[in-house]
Amino acid sequence: MKGIVVGSANTDLIIHVDKLPALGNTEVGHGFTRGPGGKGANQAVCLSQLGVDTHFIGRFGKDEFSSILIEDIKSYGVRLNYSVIDEKRQGGVVFIVVDKTGNNTMIADFGSNMYLSAEDIENAEKLFDDADLLLLQFEVSEEANKKAISIAKRNDCRIVLNPAPFRIFDPEILSNVDVITPNLFELSQILKYLEGKDIVKQDEMDIDRIEKAARILLERGVSCVVVTLGSRGCLYLDKSEVRKFGTFRVQPVDSTAAGDTFTSAFALKYTEGKSIDDAIRFASAAAAIVVTRKGAIKSIPTIEEVEDFLQRNRIQKFQ
Ligand code: RIB
Repeated sequence: MKGIVVGSANTDLIIHVDKLPALGNTEVGHGFTRGPGGKGANQAVCLSQLGVDTHFIGRFGKDEFSSILIEDIKSYGVRLNYSVIDEKRQGGVVFIVVDKTGNNTMIADFGSNMYLSAEDIENAEKLFDDADLLLLQFEVSEEANKKAISIAKRNDCRIVLNPAPFRIFDPEILSNVDVITPNLFELSQILKYLEGKDIVKQDEMDIDRIEKAARILLERGVSCVVVTLGSRGCLYLDKSEVRKFGTFRVQPVDSTAAGDTFTSAFALKYTEGKSIDDAIRFASAAAAIVVTRKGAIKSIPTIEEVEDFLQRNRIQKFQ
């Protein structure tokens, strides 16, 4: 299996706190770490850890953090031959604050990532000749994503979009997307943008409303939608079925990169032609492991770790 990830790579500066500070206040945090991250790089490392021949196309900055980031990503076996170093810009940096429930808030400066151009993707065109899978997110320029989609489409490559973090985008791209994996916040933002009204609110956990909302993405041409619902599980929809899945019960430490890991692991199993049950179980297990560890890339498991976890744990029923 050959996978391409077009996306971001960031240096994550992570600090843990008991609770987030109120405006104007200082909270004392602990456990500061600096580590490799970025939704694109996280997804690429995940594919590689799961045994996929993985190529990452991104635009790195010219600074000390970026040099370390490049070496870190390479050390996981991800190929960067078609990534670019932007001599004029600094790379992406993200401040992440994780609370004691494992949930996080982030402030990002995506730096050079946002300058990944259509030309950068064109220069990597031959990579797509025999690729099976393309993963995309929203932390690089829209023109890069669109170019990648058009080349992947010509080459019969499966296209998976993790629409995170939400931003305004050209809805035309949806008709070429095979799999989309929004969380509830992203789903609500996308639909507000597409339909001009609140169809499902982030704190609205009524599954029938979520299903109705996700159907709109199917109507826009996406082949299947997986709405991730955190510790509750996920909702899967395609034209012929709707399924609710629970997830594995774990003690959360840091949810950073859980969504990226879920997307990559699901995309892999889906592309391999595994059943939806197996693909979701596998992706949920990989994401559950991530949640029990600190950091982004550093928390992503190997295929052996996921298989071992699956042997020892049972997925919960959706509630
Ligand atoms: O999804 C987690 C990632 O989002 C972090 O690694 C951070 O870099 C941001 O891109």
